Order: sequence, then C-alpha cells, then structure tokens
Amino acid sequence: MKALVTGAAGFIGSRLAARLVGDGHEVLGLDDLSEGRPDNLDDAAGMDFVRADLRDPEAVERAARGCDVIFHQGAKRSVPRSLVQPVLTTEVNVVGTLNVLLAARAAGSRVVCASSGSVYGDQDSFPLREDMVPRPRSPYAASKLAGEAYAGAAWASLGVRAVSLRYFNVYGPHQDPASEYAAVIPLFIAACLAGSRPTIHGDGEQARDFTYVEDVVEANLRAAQAPELAFGRAFNVGGGGEPTSINRLLAIVAELTGADPDPIREPARAGDVRHTAADMTLAGQVLGHRPSVDLREGLRRTVEWFRDEVAIPA
Ligand SMILES: NC(=O)c1ccc[n+]([C@@H]2O[C@H](COP(=O)([O-])OP(=O)(O)OC[C@H]3O[C@@H](n4cnc5c(N)ncnc54)[C@H](O)[C@@H]3O)[C@@H](O)[C@H]2O)c1
Repeated sequence: MKALVTGAAGFIGSRLAARLVGDGHEVLGLDDLSEGRPDNLDDAAGMDFVRADLRDPEAVERAARGCDVIFHQGAKRSVPRSLVQPVLTTEVNVVGTLNVLLAARAAGSRVVCASSGSVYGDQDSFPLREDMVPRPRSPYAASKLAGEAYAGAAWASLGVRAVSLRYFNVYGPHQDPASEYAAVIPLFIAACLAGSRPTIHGDGEQARDFTYVEDVVEANLRAAQAPELAFGRAFNVGGGGEPTSINRLLAIVAELTGADPDPIREPARAGDVRHTAADMTLAGQVLGHRPSVDLREGLRRTVEWFRDEVAIPA
C-alpha cells in the first residue's frame, strides 16, 4: 500500500513510518519540522519526505494523492503548550485535521487520526470507556475532541473512512527529552541518567495509563484495516495495565537506571487530569488490537535506548 504519515519527523510518526517502510510499504512523510527532528527519519530510509504545513490545504492534498491510507500524527502536542499557545494549537490540530480529511476525500484514502485520552478530562468512574461524555480540560484536549468530531462528520457526510485513536501517554525510544514540552518519561530517564533532579508536579499521586510506542504503531496498522463499523468512531489506545502514579513511575525509572533521585516538587499544572486508565475492550472487539508491552518492559527498552543513543549532559 501507499501511505502518507503526517508528523513523520515526530516521535510516534517516525516510529510508524519506520515500521511501514520495514513492512515493504511505499511511504511519504509530511512534517513542517517545527518540532520533529530530521534524524528521526533515519530509520525510515527509503521514505519520501515533504516539508509542509498541515494548515496549507493544497500541500496536504498534493501529498495525499495516490495514498491508500493517511496516518495523521502531526499536531501541536502537549497540554501545557496549549495553555500558552491556544490559537496555534487549535489551528494546527483542528484545521490541520480538517485539511487531512478533505485531502482523503479527494484521494479516496482511509484516515487514521491520532486523538488523545485527554479528551475524557476528569471522570467519576474508571476505566475510561468510549461511551463516556468527554470533558476536555485544556485547549489541547478540546482540539483533539474537535478533530474526532470532524472525522466523524467526514465519514457521516462525505464518506471518508476515518478512525480516531485516543492515545494514552505514549512513551518509548526516540521520544525527545529536550523539547520545552517534553513528556514525563523521557524527562525522568534523562534526569536519572544525568544524575540531575527530576521535577514532580503536584503530589505525584496522579496516575497515568502509559502506552508503549510499538503498541500505538500496532493500533494504527489495525485501524487502517478496520471494518466499516469503526468508521467515524474513536477508540482507546492505552497500555493495558494498571495506571501508575508519577511517584511510582520515578521509582521504577530510578531502579532501572540505578539512580537515587531527589525530585523537585512543584505545584500541580493547570489543565492536568488526576487519573487516566483506558478500557481497551472496544479496541479489542472492533479493531482486534490488544497492547502487548507492559510498563516495566517498555521502560527497560526505553532506558536502554537512552543509554545508547542520547548524549546526556553531565
Ligand atoms: N505522545 C503522547 O503521549 C500522545 C498522547 C496522546 C496523543 N498524542 C498525539 O499523537 C500524535 C503524535 O504525537 P508525538 O508524541 O509524536 O508528538 P511530536 O511532537 O513528537 O510529533 C508531532 C509532529 O508534528 C509536526 N507538526 C507540528 N505542527 C505541524 C504543522 N503545522 N504542519 C506539519 N507538521 C507539524 C511536528 O514537527 C512533529 O514532528 C499527535 O497528534 C499527538 O497529539 C500523543
């Protein structure tokens, strides 16, 4: 098949592109390189690449021509960023997603859209199921929910075969610890390997469903083959295990790196939710997706990659 991967220079997009190329598919990557790193593309040797902005409808439509599937990973990620740059987050994540859906209509391609578990916001019961009413708590979460809504509408009114995937805290090799809006796992690993002090926001008892990146890649491949029942809908993509508190996460990373960190405690961040835990029943039933890498194993692989690949400042 021929696939377009948006956000191909980013963390998840680059892992997906590498897997698609490895499986023998023809792949075109699209990214504006605003966050992604060109060296992330190295593992997808043979992939074509176009530097373009998702907000440019003609560029997206050109890139989608002849593609069987568009894996739409490009976005302005991060809850804290969306509080600082709410308009940019909305333009890229909402208009960018609409451009992808319209390009898919023109090309007759399927679409798999990266959404986020953050759309649930704070709920009263767990695990989080797709039939719960979403309560986004940040512009980022709202933009992801809007993207899902456009994907649903594109299927309902334009016949675009779109499936949205709600990722829960993805981690793994190639995740950038240096970005201003880096996620907690690369930050903890980088701090523990460098012997510096990691930061914990709030009491650290907020819990997260962490999902290994290869399981997210697998879910995308399943969604690209999904039956009609899945079109226009959103599915959880979580790690499949028990949610883990940030304090516990640091303890595991410390053990795997041999560190004894003394974390800096800072106030809880606005827009953060208290608890996430994905119910993976629907994704299993409709997409046939079941996560396979548990947190300890995923962290072990991630720490190994950081030790080999990342020059940690002393
Ligand atoms: N990492 C997570 O834990 C997580 C959780 C839930 C959802 N998601 C979603 O998964 C997707 C991939 O996330 P990631 O962690 O790989 O993020 P990332 O920041 O590593 O990758 C996103 C990529 O999009 C590109 N991009 C940004 N704005 C663009 C624009 N205007 N035009 C073209 N490209 C643009 C960036 O340069 C970057 O390479 C995103 O849609 C994100 O919202 C990620």
